[in-house]
Formats: sequence, structure tokens, C-alpha cells
Amino acid sequence: MPVSLLASDVTLGYDQSPVITGLSLDVPDHSFTIVIGPNACGKSTLLRGLARLLAPTAGAVLLDGQSIQRQKSKDVAKRLGLLPQSSLAPDGITVADLVARGRFPHQHALRTWSRDDEAAVAAAMAATNVTELSRRLVDELSGGQRQRVWVAMALAQQTGHLLLDEPTTFLDIAHQIDLMELFAELHRGGTTLVAVLHDLNHAARYASHLVAMRDGEIVAQGEPREIITEQIVEAVYDLPCRVITDPVSGTPLVLPLGGRRP
Ligand SMILES: Nc1ncnc2c1ncn2[C@@H]1O[C@H](COP(=O)(O)OP(=O)(O)OP(=O)(O)O)[C@@H](O)[C@H]1O
Ligand SMILES: [Mg+2]
Repeated sequence: MPVSLLASDVTLGYDQSPVITGLSLDVPDHSFTIVIGPNACGKSTLLRGLARLLAPTAGAVLLDGQSIQRQKSKDVAKRLGLLPQSSLAPDGITVADLVARGRFPHQHALRTWSRDDEAAVAAAMAATNVTELSRRLVDELSGGQRQRVWVAMALAQQTGHLLLDEPTTFLDIAHQIDLMELFAELHRGGTTLVAVLHDLNHAARYASHLVAMRDGEIVAQGEPREIITEQIVEAVYDLPCRVITDPVSGTPLVLPLGGRRP
């Protein structure tokens, strides 16, 4: 399978202390890759590295065979969008204006705002169900509404690769499923998605490729059926569990047995 985004032997961290050392990961083109793992294991750090926000101190992230650090940020932003785990909106900005910022990479000096931009913003807001909020101030939204606006901004960028750090946080169960279904639709349409998720059952349902991390390392990767097993879940989270077959989707379903292994 072709791979246009990959990490090759990367070391990533903050202030000289590495969180991830010598990690390699291929993101298969057109895959829905989902990254799972305990808090602080380095998932967001890895995603930031893949998105060019964090420069590796060793190794490289390659996009289309070239080091992403050597490519212009605007060129990268045309091909790869990122929804960070948390972001602050500029003070006093409306929903429509924030989503429109997703179009910045596509604009240049002579052509400021086009019909394509307008259409992309409208489609992104409709897909995330925020059209009715378009004139509201982002500061005044609920947590779940705001999260959907950030997703809309990432969608409006219309990139072939979309990196999503916990895209369903703050969302109620119905909105979570709406969003997962939307990502599944993008996946079917050919977009390559990399999402960090804590919900193993969602991960098992939607991932075409699942990556399990612990302590800055990839401990297992493959199809959900191979990764969401009692042994691997316990090895990753120290959490004894049973894994049964989800009666709705036929994918693995994790049932924790109780407390964590000490
Ligand atoms: N900006 C930062 N400066 C210094 N250390 C950081 C920074 N961001 C994260 N870290 C540290 O790096 C480690 C990995 O953090 P990271 O955010 O990648 O974890 P994560 O797997 O995304 O966790 P979570 O599930 O809680 O989001 C943690 O020990 C964290 O404290
Ligand atoms: Mg994180």
C-alpha cells in the first residue's frame, strides 16, 4: 500500500527531554488510522510531529517522500489538516469566521476569497451541524458545540490527510457517532485520516488500521481484530478486561473487569 505520510525513526519531545525515541510509523494512504494508548504516552506528541508542529530532534517525518520540516508550512497545510487536542479561538470571533480560517492555506495575494472557499466553509459547517451557529461567538458556545466548530475548520481546509486529536471529546453519544460516521464517509471518499481516540469500542468499529502506544512506543498495530484483544488491552492499560464481539458491528467490544492491575 502506498504511504505518503510516515515517521522514520523520529525522536520527539520538549526541552531536550524526549517523549518518543526512534519511532517509525507508516500511515497507509486512504486508511482510517486510529491511535490509542494511556494518558501521557505520547499520542498528541506524535500527531504534532506528523503535522509539522513539532520538529523531530532525530529522524524525519516524510510527506510525499520529502522531509516535512523542509516544506513550506502553507504547502503542508494544503495537503494536511490538524485538529489539535485543544485550541483557543481568537477573542470575539464568530463561528463562520473561525471556520473560514481553514481556507487560509488556499488563498494567495491576488485572489482573496472565492466561491470555492465559500462552498467549502458552507459544506464543512453543514457536515458538522453548526450552520445554525454561524453568527454566534465561539466563546459563547457549549463545549460540544465548540468542538464541532473546530472540526468544521479542519474540514474546510479540504486536505487529503486529516489528523484529529480526540475529535469526539465533549460530545454527547449521538454527536460522537455523527462525527465518527462523517469521518468514515471521508475515509470511503479517499481521505487519509489519523485520529487519536480513547474510546476503544469506537476505535475498533471505525479504524482500518489501529496503532496502540504505551510509554512513547508503538506496542502493536494492525487490524482492530488483531489489536483489541484481552492481552493487548491489559498490556497497554494494565486493565484486565473481557473482549466480546460487538453485536451491532461485529467488531471487538471491550468490557473492563474492574480495577487496574497494580
Ligand atoms: N508542551 C509541552 N511541554 C512539555 N512537556 C509536554 C508538553 N506537552 C506534553 N508534554 C509531556 O509529554 C508527554 C506526552 O504528552 P502527550 O500530550 O503526547 O500525551 P498523550 O498521549 O496525548 O496524552 P492524553 O491522552 O492525556 O492526551 C507527557 O508526559 C506530557 O507531560
Ligand atoms: Mg493527547
